Amino acid sequence: MKVRKAVIPAAGLGTRFLPATKALAKEMLPIIDKPTIQYIVEEAKKSGIEDILIVTGKGKRPIEDHFDSVPELEQNLKEKGKHDLLRLVEQTTDINIYFIRQSHPRGLGDAILTAKDFVGNEPFVVMLGDDIMQDKVPLTQQLMERYDQTHASTLAVMKVPHEEVNKYGVIDPGAQSQPGLYDVKQFVEKPDIEKAPSDLAIIGRYLLTPEIFDMLETQKPGAGNEIQLTDAIDRLNQIQRVFAHEFKGDRFDVGYKFGYLKTSIEFGLKHPEVKDDLKAYIKELGKKLK
Ligand code: UTP
Repeated sequence: MKVRKAVIPAAGLGTRFLPATKALAKEMLPIIDKPTIQYIVEEAKKSGIEDILIVTGKGKRPIEDHFDSVPELEQNLKEKGKHDLLRLVEQTTDINIYFIRQSHPRGLGDAILTAKDFVGNEPFVVMLGDDIMQDKVPLTQQLMERYDQTHASTLAVMKVPHEEVNKYGVIDPGAQSQPGLYDVKQFVEKPDIEKAPSDLAIIGRYLLTPEIFDMLETQKPGAGNEIQLTDAIDRLNQIQRVFAHEFKGDRFDVGYKFGYLKTSIEFGLKHPEVKDDLKAYIKELGKKLK
C-alpha cells in the first residue's frame, strides 16, 4: 500500500525553550523567516505525502493560522503588486492539512494515538515538528522507498556522540539486510550512557504500520512518566519486523536553545537575502572572540 499520510506532533510543552514557549509553540519559532514546522511540511510535500495531520495543543492556534489563507493580507499584497511576497504567503495554504488537539501532553506516543482515525488502516509517517532534516533525497522519501521494498515499519536513526545517547531512543542493531538498513533487536528510550546498546539514535522521522495503534492503546508510561513511542515500537517489533534506516544527511534539532541558534546561523549562511552580510559579520565577530 502506498504511503500517503503524515502525522506531525507539535503539542509538546517545549520546556527547554521557556520562556519563549509560554505562549508560542516552539514549532512556530522562525529559522530566519520561516517557522520550523513549515520546513517539515515542505519535506512531506517533496516526499509525495498527500495528507498531513498536525497534532496541536494549548497555545498552538498560530500553527493553524499559519496554514490558513489571510484574505486581507493577500489582497493588500496584490494591490501593491508585491507578487513575490504573495507567492510566499500563498505557499502554505496549498496543502491538505488537518488538525487535532492532544488534550494533555502525555508524551509522543499519546500524541500519535490521537491520529488513529485519521490514519485508518494504512502505513504512515511521523515527522517531529522540531527536527529539520536535509539531504539530496528528503529523509521521509528515503523511508518511503525502504517501505516499498520491505512493507515494514522503518525508523530513521543516526550516529550521535556517545555521551549524548541518554537523550534519545537508541537501537540495539542486528544484521544489515541492505547497506544502511538494520534489523533491530531492541529499542530503548533514553538509556543510561553505560548501558546504551549502540550510538544509533532514533531521529525525528518514522514510517509506521497501523498496528502501532494497538500497541499505543495499551502502552504504559515509560521514561519521564510519558507514553513513549519508542516503547510501543519495541513491542511492535515483537510481532512484526521493524527496521532502522541510517540517515547520512544533516539534522537540525531546533527544540533547544543552542540547536536553534546553530540552525539559524547555518540557514542564514545559505539564505540569499542575508548570507553575505552574515558571513562578513561572523568573520568580524570571530576576530573579537578569543
Ligand atoms: P520533545 O521531546 O521535544 O518534548 O517532543 P517537548 O515537550 O516538546 O519539549 P521539552 O522537552 O519540554 O523542551 C518531540 C516532539 O513531540 C511533540 C513535541 O511537540 C515535539 O514536536 N510532543 C511531545 C507532543 O506532540 N506531545 C507530547 O505529549 C510530547
